[in-house]
Amino acid sequence: MQHWVCRQSDIPDNSMKLFNINKADVLVGRISGRLFACDNVCPHRGASLAMGELHGNNIYCYMHAYEYDAFSGKLVNIDSLKQQSNWRRQSEEWKRSDDLTLYPVLEQDGSIYVDLP
Ligand code: FES
Repeated sequence: MQHWVCRQSDIPDNSMKLFNINKADVLVGRISGRLFACDNVCPHRGASLAMGELHGNNIYCYMHAYEYDAFSGKLVNIDSLKQQSNWRRQSEEWKRSDDLTLYPVLEQDGSIYVDLP
């Protein structure tokens, strides 16, 4: 079902913003003019992705430095794995992450809409 989220101008280029849509926390952002929308819950251990940052096309989770491509949803980088030797000793299960849950997003007549299941 398609939901009105905000005006186009509410999401400037290279920024992201958290919205509560139909009781779901949805992160909506724009990178190089292109919109994305995803679940705000980090698929690694559940941190709020809105507290992270954009790194190029990636959403960077502040909690353990996992980076997910905002357009494919794929986990593309884990900086903490390279930098901290004690972190490398965590179990494979703990390090595992699903991909980001993406939602279709549409820009029309000055407004932004997100399609939620
Ligand atoms: S909770 Fe996001 S990287 Fe661990």
